Amino acid sequence: MEQDFADRVAIVTGAASGIGYTTAHHLAERGALVVGVDVGEHVDAVMQQLPGEGSFGIRRDLTAPEAASEIVSEVLQRCGTPHILINSAGVALLDPAIDVPASRWQATLDINLSASFYMAQAVGREMVAAGYGRIINLASQASVIGLADHAAYCASKAAIVGLTRVLSLEWARHGVTVNAVSPTVVETPLGKAAWAGEKGEKAKAEIPVGRFAQPEEVAAAIAYLASDAAAMVTGSNMLIDGGRTSV
Ligand SMILES: NC(=O)c1ccc[n+]([C@@H]2O[C@H](COP(=O)([O-])OP(=O)(O)OC[C@H]3O[C@@H](n4cnc5c(N)ncnc54)[C@H](O)[C@@H]3O)[C@@H](O)[C@H]2O)c1
Repeated sequence: MEQDFADRVAIVTGAASGIGYTTAHHLAERGALVVGVDVGEHVDAVMQQLPGEGSFGIRRDLTAPEAASEIVSEVLQRCGTPHILINSAGVALLDPAIDVPASRWQATLDINLSASFYMAQAVGREMVAAGYGRIINLASQASVIGLADHAAYCASKAAIVGLTRVLSLEWARHGVTVNAVSPTVVETPLGKAAWAGEKGEKAKAEIPVGRFAQPEEVAAAIAYLASDAAAMVTGSNMLIDGGRTSV
């Protein structure tokens, strides 16, 4: 079903690259005003090039504790209460479990888990008051299966799914749905770096459909969850994994 996001305000984190960028483009093409948040310096220029009018970027490091509330204040001031939040900013720092330095463990949790929570909390507060909202958190196949060298990443993504369930049940009565999406490897800068070469070919062979996912395939699933049609879907962890976790 083709969605219409006219007059919707969507905040997309990690919007300068990969799944975040592709989702921002997908929503803007269908009428949304997108506020893209990213630590990347070009995020405002990239968002201003999106289809339609009014999209813009806010350059912030989301691991700063005050970032979420400051971003939401700016969005409220410039375009009103947001209808949609996509938490896509994230990192994949890979190490064998016995070698994970505390700094890389903490850096992973800070952006993949804590920043998503603080954004959901700050945006959710406004959505609950308004009686409408759609929040989609990027988890991963790593939320449901173990992957070698992914101790911090798997932990952060399993935690995002737990968080999604709690927010969904607390906010369901207020018209706010909260879901996670869990792709297999997606051909973005993050996915290509984590799964280069021989390791990637082996991973591909383990996916029943025989290939990695494209960012557009993830954006389309996110757009469904962000639409009015998905009002009855909340607390779910939607797998977009070509059957990888069913093997
Ligand atoms: N690509 C994959 O294979 C894959 C698979 C499953 C899940 N995911 C998840 O999808 C999400 C997006 O991944 P992607 O492949 O698009 O990655 P990407 O590297 O292409 O994009 C991530 C974006 O997040 C931004 N970011 C990172 N740290 C930040 C911070 N502290 N503050 C603000 N912005 C920050 C980066 O600048 C970048 O623009 C991540 O949460 C990732 O874990 C990716």
